[in-house]
Amino acid sequence: MDAFHRLITYNREWAAARTATDPDYFARTVSRQTPEFLYIGCSDSRVPAEVATGAGPGELFVHRNIANVVLPSDLSAMSVLQYAVEVLDVKHVIVTGHYGCGGVGAAMGTQSYGLVDHWLGPIRNVVRWNKPELDAIADAQARFDRVVELNVLEQLYHLSVTPVIQQAWEKGRRPLLHGLVYDMRDGVLRELATAIDSPAAADELAARRLSGVPAGPPPMTRRAGDGTAASPAAESLASDELVDRIAARVVERLAADGGRPPLVAGASGRRPSPAARSGGGAE
Ligand code: CO
Repeated sequence: MDAFHRLITYNREWAAARTATDPDYFARTVSRQTPEFLYIGCSDSRVPAEVATGAGPGELFVHRNIANVVLPSDLSAMSVLQYAVEVLDVKHVIVTGHYGCGGVGAAMGTQSYGLVDHWLGPIRNVVRWNKPELDAIADAQARFDRVVELNVLEQLYHLSVTPVIQQAWEKGRRPLLHGLVYDMRDGVLRELATAIDSPAAADELAARRLSGVPAGPPPMTRRAGDGTAASPAAESLASDELVDRIAARVVERLAADGGRPPLVAGASGRRPSPAARSGGGAE
């Protein structure tokens, strides 16, 4: 029997066995779901969310991607989060990383894997921001494990600052956020951060996720608030200087061709003819 048909055969046996021992097993969840948990984990095939937690149908609402990344720009993750919190009213959101995560390992190295390199960008930031702590860990496996943990804290922090979570907390301090790491070596889920239920708790987490950085605002906040984000030089070049240069070139070319003075739209509207401009005071 090939591998695919083994799955189908198992499924038939499983469904029949469930119904035999518990005739209402499937009927209980067929009309609606009321899961208490949103589970956000890695796509890795060795991390069996339901198996490891003993959760049955209807208990876990699940979102998985490479390296359990939570990004506000990820329409899929944000839709899952919004639906889970606002419609299903889950009580807990659990971000679960796992030791030996290939995505985290790739983000720590320099080899390119194509499109997924973009996806792993946020984890490269985790490595960079925590460089002092990570450099101090001599053992490569221990360093890898630590990046896995820091990534869970980072993604948990991303989760905590989403409008969905912030608004839910404003209304009633739900859901609670938890960060876990699954250890494939022994099958145990270890708790990194539990019961985060407020902006204050999220702020505390923000400090923990940057363990190698001295106390202070995290990089994301600092970047947004220090007023250096804009690029006024590039802006003025585009809006004024560049337009002036292009206009001057057009004027020169038309003058050389003996054409009529052009009408060039600029910041101050139509510009005067070259003759008027050379006369001065026309601006
Ligand atoms: Co993984």
